[in-house]
Amino acid sequence: MDPNATDQTPATLRLANMSKSFPLGDRTISVLDDISLTIDSGEFVAIMGRSGSGKSTLLSIMAGLDTPDSGTVHLGDLSISTMSEDELALIRQTRIGFIFQSFHLIPTLSVAENIGFPLQISGQADQIERVDTLIDQVELGHRRDSMPHQLSGGEKQRTAIARALVTRPQVLFADEPTGNLDVGNADQILTTLIELQQAYQTTLIVVTHDPAVADLASRTITLVDGRLDSESDKSSATAG
Ligand SMILES: Nc1ncnc2c1ncn2[C@@H]1O[C@H](COP(=O)(O)OP(=O)(O)O)[C@@H](O)[C@H]1O
Ligand SMILES: [Mg+2]
Repeated sequence: MDPNATDQTPATLRLANMSKSFPLGDRTISVLDDISLTIDSGEFVAIMGRSGSGKSTLLSIMAGLDTPDSGTVHLGDLSISTMSEDELALIRQTRIGFIFQSFHLIPTLSVAENIGFPLQISGQADQIERVDTLIDQVELGHRRDSMPHQLSGGEKQRTAIARALVTRPQVLFADEPTGNLDVGNADQILTTLIELQQAYQTTLIVVTHDPAVADLASRTITLVDGRLDSESDKSSATAG
């Protein structure tokens, strides 16, 4: 696989013996310990675990936002864990979508401009018609020219979902995507995420505290103090 090319072919995400620690004063604390995990293309995986168990760190490493201390991370045949920062930036721009609890919209850009932004920075401005399709799919046609501060929380997150999908990523990551929303908006965001995962045939990996999200996922992975809970399915081969 050429990391420079946009590539929407199915790709398996594979972690082998991956560990990560952070310095704490003059000590280091182990945050992720010997994680081995395979996620097939098209899966919807929920990641659960108590606050501080390492969920966000795991997601960041799988998404190429952070690097492990040891072990490997592969997306298809690309070795994410050994890439340079420039190569990683390209992978994030073309193959990975990320949705944050706090939306991370660009405050000076409209809804349509936020959604189109990843196309601009990854040299795919010729695909700009995808913005209109996605605006319809997240039901924000009436909000096309609104600025982020004019939107409700649910509308902000729908903008963020559309933005994350505009490059047709192989894997879509969401870190507590409904954590800042009320129940009604949370349900709607979840429905939208799952509908679009199916429409775009992307892998979906969601960190959540919500058992209802986990029930909808094809598989749940639980972290306990930085280790995979023994009850977690480590491979899709055992997913029911
Ligand atoms: N950049 C960092 N520097 C130091 N410690 C960190 C950093 N990121 C996370 N941690 C620590 O790693 C642990 C796991 O954090 P995190 O992955 O955010 O957990 P979760 O998302 O499950 O709440 C916590 O103890 C947290 O304080
Ligand atoms: Mg977290």
